[in-house]
Amino acid sequence: MRQKMDKKTDLSWLTIILHWGIALLVLVLFFLGIWMVDLNYYDPWYYDGPWWHKGFGVVLFGLLIWQGCWQFYRVKVVPLLAPGSWQARLSALMHFLLLFMTYLIILTGYFMVTGLGQGVIVFDWFSLPALMLLGDNVMQLFGDFHCYGAYFLMGLVSLHILAALKHHFFDKDSVLIRMLGKRGS
Ligand code: HEM
Repeated sequence: MRQKMDKKTDLSWLTIILHWGIALLVLVLFFLGIWMVDLNYYDPWYYDGPWWHKGFGVVLFGLLIWQGCWQFYRVKVVPLLAPGSWQARLSALMHFLLLFMTYLIILTGYFMVTGLGQGVIVFDWFSLPALMLLGDNVMQLFGDFHCYGAYFLMGLVSLHILAALKHHFFDKDSVLIRMLGKRGS
């Protein structure tokens, strides 16, 4: 059964769906975030914007955990970049930074809400409890990190996209198309 998941050069559909689902949620969260903080109190989205933002943020966290577990379980595909080459190292560093920043932004978001003592409501479905109350200075620090960290993450995402396009158009390898689901590439 394991052999059917990720074999040779093909990525399994679960790997692909998790990748694009996470990518989409990160982008939605970023643009929703910068839009919602400028809404005024009388806007109908004043409460609904953060309601969706927090719900999607927790769903993203769940997908990241799922992806992390899947990385261990799935059969590894043949690497397209020569192991140990500068490109393979840079790619590993980029993946680490993307994940690291995304986790930190989610965590600071969680503490920005729960640091005031309230839980994080996830689509009126369940609520994550507050773990600790935080002082004003720490809340300010987390708020700043959440905001500037999100812009930094967008910079990383842009570089990640540029690297994928370079592989496709200049190196003409299958790094991008196998993540798009092409079989036998
Ligand atoms: C990768 C995931 C996330 C991204 C990219 C993201 C991005 C953003 C951005 C860009 C802003 C606007 C910041 C500003 O301009 O001041 C924002 C605000 C906010 N985010 Fe997130 N966010 C994420 C996850 C979360 C999560 C998981 C939560 C809570 C559980 C959360 C809670 C909030 C709150 C409460 C605000 C409003 C802050 C304010 O009113 O100043 N975010 N987010």
